[in-house]
Amino acid sequence: MREILLATGNQDKAREMEEILSIVEAGMEAIIRWRRLSEYPGIAEPVEDGRTFRSNAELKAHYYARRTGLWTIADDSGLEVDALAGEPGVRSARYAGEKAGARANNLLLIQKLAGVPPARRSARFRCVVVLSDGLRCLASAEGTIEGRIIDEARGCNGFGYDPHFWYEPDGMTTAEMTSPRKHEVSHRGQALKRLREQLGGLLGSGEVA
Ligand code: IMP
Repeated sequence: MREILLATGNQDKAREMEEILSIVEAGMEAIIRWRRLSEYPGIAEPVEDGRTFRSNAELKAHYYARRTGLWTIADDSGLEVDALAGEPGVRSARYAGEKAGARANNLLLIQKLAGVPPARRSARFRCVVVLSDGLRCLASAEGTIEGRIIDEARGCNGFGYDPHFWYEPDGMTTAEMTSPRKHEVSHRGQALKRLREQLGGLLGSGEVA
């Protein structure tokens, strides 16, 4: 039995990670026991000062793995808007300020895109997930979902920028999708499914288990 920590303090991301992994881990319950960050309340949050999603995900995975002694999965994710040269990017969570919530971040995003026509509002969510044993990066994976930013907020599901992220194939925002559908197509869903495949190989090989 391998214990693996899902290291995110963001409750929305934690919920999505748990939902996605519960879909893809079917049949592996006997091999993996998932631990949550809420079980380790004494650990201070690391400073996320990486310049890329990958460096932040690695930083968090190594940090929590060293403090808990557990294999640890961490993710870093965000929104890249082409008309804003990739903003908000790694600053997605704190775009409108350190303590800003989703409402303020979305307001700023829509303000910055004022006057930009729909055809030039292409954007993507990006997610990088990393598995660390505290010394090495054992596995990593990435996922993206392409969309377009709309002015009007639509839908109540999801979190963060979802109400403004239009996904053309479904003709709706990611906040209008059901959770299972979002996980099927989302950046986080893809990244975690890819990581999960590698994890199966790591545990199966006995190499590092
Ligand atoms: P992190 O906790 O540093 O990875 O910040 C991620 C931020 O990116 C979140 O707080 C959201 O603002 C945004 N974000 C990432 N994934 C999603 C998503 O699936 N939907 C909406 N916003 C997201």
